[in-house]
Formats: sequence, structure tokens, C-alpha cells
Amino acid sequence: MSDHEIKRVGVLGAGTMGGGIAQCAAQAGCEVVIRDVSEEALASGVAAIEKSLARLLKKERITEEQRAETMSRISTTLSMGEAAEGMDLVVEAIPERMDLKIEAFSFLGKNAPGHAILGTNTSSLSVTEIAAASGCADRVIGMHFFNPVPVMKLLELVRGMNTGEETLRAARAFGERIGKECVVVNDWPGFATSRLGIILGCEAIRMVEQGVADPSDIDRAMELGYRHPMGPLKLTDLVGLDVRLAIMEHLFRELGEQFRPPTLLRQMVRAGKLGRKSGEGFYKYDA
Ligand code: 3HC
Repeated sequence: MSDHEIKRVGVLGAGTMGGGIAQCAAQAGCEVVIRDVSEEALASGVAAIEKSLARLLKKERITEEQRAETMSRISTTLSMGEAAEGMDLVVEAIPERMDLKIEAFSFLGKNAPGHAILGTNTSSLSVTEIAAASGCADRVIGMHFFNPVPVMKLLELVRGMNTGEETLRAARAFGERIGKECVVVNDWPGFATSRLGIILGCEAIRMVEQGVADPSDIDRAMELGYRHPMGPLKLTDLVGLDVRLAIMEHLFRELGEQFRPPTLLRQMVRAGKLGRKSGEGFYKYDA
């Protein structure tokens, strides 16, 4: 299908990434249906979108009319069927567990229209394996967005073993339409971004563990010395320590020793220090 036909977008998952993807699609004029498993999750996803749009309005990046129109294009549901049926594109942004992804794509393969593109926002899992569960692997592609989605320019498109050329073309056109710049990588654990980003985060945590320097000095070193917008430990707090641990565990299994999760990270996750979302990670945050 050609991109101008992508009018209706289903988003599975109302978390940080799902909400951001939904917001960008709605701002670009698509009708968006967000699905999650509880009313609370949906409400908090919509509240985050409202907050983000309010920020853009305050900065005069959008008008009040655009804010209202964007919100009017977004609806929510608890039903997977309502986020699949009649959609031209469905983007999955549910937790990073292969069993959940397989269940979702097997459902989408049966319930989304035959022309729909099925995207997964996985940050490291095998797109080829997820696609195989759908029964229509040629229409499945990795669409890896970055947090905060409304701000970050990159869309990493991941070509599974059986992703069709037309699917890649349509996903790229959609990405450009919502204001992203796309890179295309082949399906390999961690793709391009997570593989490099995680190794930096992993080493920074090992350095805290070894007492090399405080988190704030490690971060400032990378911010001032390498011009990173935020240091690797602040970034780990933003992404979520649990999320980064899950990616590390997967890459450790797939790629080996260099991705072995530091014990300090495991301990912090066990203690509930998950980063910004829990109020504490390598730094403390106001509620
Ligand atoms: N919605 C809308 N706008 C937002 C926003 C949001 N959620 N968050 C920030 N902004 C806007 C601000 O309004 C501001 O706009 P302006 O340029 O017009 O003033 C701009 O973004 C910068 O924000 P701030 O001034 O508040 O703060 P900073 O300058 O410190 O920038 C940041 C914040 C954009 C988060 C920046 O620090 C940054 O780029 N950090 C790195 C983020 C990163 O690396 N993300 C990737 C994580 S890995 C990932 O997502 C992959 C996944 O698979 C885990």
C-alpha cells in the first residue's frame, strides 16, 4: 500500500513509547486507537500525551486548534480487536517479552486487514521471530522509536528476514510523514542503536560499581567531553532500569559477555529503583 493510504493507526500499549507514537501519528493527521490492558494504563497514557501537547503549545510549536484536533483524533480501547480491525498500520509497543509479542502478532495476523503494515517497537528482540508468529511476515517490520518520541528525530526501521520491500517503503514514508528520519538496519540482536547505546550504559554502571566516579561525574564527563545531551546514567533513569536490564539480558544471551548485566543494576531493579518513573534510580526525582 502507498503511505497516503495510512489513515488509521492502531497502537498497542499506552506506555511512554506507545503514547508518544500515538501522539506523533495523530499530530500528522491519522486517526489513532490506543489499546492497553487497563483503564488506568490508558488514562495515564492519555494524560502524558496531553502534557506533551501542552508543552508544545506553550512553546508555540503548535496552535490551540492543532492541540485540540490532535486530541480529537485519539481514542482508547481495552479491546485488541478494535485496535486491529480497519487499521492501515498497527504499531506494537507492549513490554519487551517475546511471549507477549508472539501472542500480539498472532492476533494481528488474523484480525488486522490484509493490507495493514504491522510494526513492532521492540528495542532488541528478533523481528524475524515476532513476524513469524503473524503468518504474514512480509508485512511485519521493526519500527524502533526513541524516548521522548515527540522530540527524537530517529526512526530505526528493522528489516526482518521476510519483511517485504513494499512494507519497508510504506513504513519509511509513514516515518517521514510524522517528521522522523529513518535508518534501515537488518535484524540482528540490538540492531544499531540498542547494541551501541546499551554497551555505554552497561560500562557506566560497572564504573559506578567499581567506584571509578560518582554518577553525576560520569554523566558530566560524557555531556561535556562528548557532547551527549545527557550522560549514560541519566539516560538509564529516563529509559527505566528494568527496561535496560531486560535488553542487557537478551543481548548477553545473544551476543555474549560484553553485555553481562552489572550486579548493581540487578540489585537496583530488585530494590524498586527503576529510574524516573519510580522516583529514584541513579538520581532522585520529585513525584
Ligand atoms: N513532549 C514534547 N516536547 C518535549 C518532551 C515531550 N515529552 N520532552 C522534552 N520536550 C521538548 C522540550 O519542550 C524542549 O523544547 P524546546 O527545544 O523547544 O525548548 C526540548 O524538548 C528539550 O527539552 P528540555 O529543555 O526540557 O530538556 P533538555 O534540553 O535537557 O532535553 C531531552 C531533554 C530531549 C530528553 C534531551 O536531554 C535528550 O535528547 N536526551 C537524550 C534522549 C535519548 O537519548 N533518548 C533515547 C533513549 S533510548 C530509547 O528510547 C530506545 C528504547 O528502545 C529504550
